[in-house]
Amino acid sequence: STLVKSIFRNPAQYLNQEIEISGWIRTSRASKAFGFIELNDGTFFKNLQVVFEEGMENFAEIAKLATGTSIIVKGILAESLGAKQPFELKAQSIIVEGECASDYPLQKKRHSFEYLRTIAHLRPRTNSFSAVFRVRSLVAFAIHQFFQEKGFVYVHTPIITGSDAEGAGEMFHVTTLDLDAPPRTEEGKIDYSRDFFGRETNLTVSGQLNVETYCMAFRNVYTFGPTFRAENSNTARHAAEFWMIEPEIAFADLEDDMELAEDMIKYVINYVLENAPEEMAFFNEFVDKNLLDRLQNIVQASFERVTYTRAIELLEKAKDKFEYPVEWGTDLQTEHERYLTEQVFKKPIFVIDYPKEIKAFYMRLNEDRKTVAAMDLLVPGIGEIIGGSQREERLDVLEKRMDELGLKKEDYAWYLDLRKYGGTRHAGYGLGFERIIMYLTGISNIRDVIAFPRTVNNADF
Ligand code: 4AD
Ligand code: MG
Repeated sequence: STLVKSIFRNPAQYLNQEIEISGWIRTSRASKAFGFIELNDGTFFKNLQVVFEEGMENFAEIAKLATGTSIIVKGILAESLGAKQPFELKAQSIIVEGECASDYPLQKKRHSFEYLRTIAHLRPRTNSFSAVFRVRSLVAFAIHQFFQEKGFVYVHTPIITGSDAEGAGEMFHVTTLDLDAPPRTEEGKIDYSRDFFGRETNLTVSGQLNVETYCMAFRNVYTFGPTFRAENSNTARHAAEFWMIEPEIAFADLEDDMELAEDMIKYVINYVLENAPEEMAFFNEFVDKNLLDRLQNIVQASFERVTYTRAIELLEKAKDKFEYPVEWGTDLQTEHERYLTEQVFKKPIFVIDYPKEIKAFYMRLNEDRKTVAAMDLLVPGIGEIIGGSQREERLDVLEKRMDELGLKKEDYAWYLDLRKYGGTRHAGYGLGFERIIMYLTGISNIRDVIAFPRTVNNADF
């Protein structure tokens, strides 16, 4: 007999052969003389039908098996007479590997995503999650391949850091101090100099500042890792723990940065369309009926570029439609981002040159002295999936900006050194990994594209 680990994706090649498969029962029904099991082996979201007959020695036991039971089946793969599936496995023997208790929550019916979040340890066993997380894995691989093919170096930036890269103050503190009775300074503040690292530390909000150091040595680099933000926003697109891809390129400006981002997005779309066609067809059928059309159009289109100032003009004309006010100087809300991509341009757009007041300290000041060389990539259905910029390489301009913002230069001495020691033009961006998975699958809540979501009031599992 041939031991076959995964035939579920392409059973045709095993027609009329004896094979052994193993998996979990999705549904089972039996009469006195024969029975059917819909088996899923974990390698694909579709099941294979197993037919078993009275002659089998443990027929009575098998006929009673519950949904969720794991079994090993040997048999001959045959064409199926039923209309629902092309093939079925005519079982010669079935061995029970692990029984499933009768309170198993995943019975045969469609469960809502909301409900499935309450059983995050079991939800990967559903078709939707099988498809989403296989695509998530592929996309991670595609992103690495995209950068590696271009000669980028993957740098592992630290998770625990001493700086706040985005200056937004939304950080999770890391401490070993006994917070019931912490050591205190003479002014009565908690004395972090007596903490593990001899200073205050937090979970990183971005690997950017660290990766810039490797950019100034290796030229083209990227990070790909978890990042953490204690944003108190309970939305469908924010998580407290999310993964971010941050390329950084030397001798490059904002235009080069946008070109790289556009190429990357198109590469990833093509990659999943080619390598996960069944999963993508599944999303198109069950999650978002326009998904494939939209993605195919996007790889053809060239992304629009629009200045922040122009975007505000367009939004002001439609201000009655919005909950939040729009005027020059305010940050764009999701509703504004979606209006621009879905109603005005109907494709992904780069919004560039934002007011310096609403962007991070490291972004390069434009000639007008009011805006910075920033870019956000906004896409229909989601809004922002990428935030990036050309970095301020001029030491004096950067120091002045840090002074204006009250940032302590001592804390960033190593970052400023990059400008002192042969600093060059450079640029980079951050792609929210969960956001691109949402975009590629049509799934509308970030909680359903990350295995164990961490959000406000939720760190279960
Ligand atoms: O725009 P952000 O804050 O940019 C940075 O962190 C820069 N340091 C990136 C860089 O230039 N290297 O975040 C980048 C992206 C956003 O566009 C969004 O897709 C995602 O990260 N993101 C989140 N995703 C999920 N949950 C959150 N709370 C997120 N915050 C940002
Ligand atoms: Mg941003």
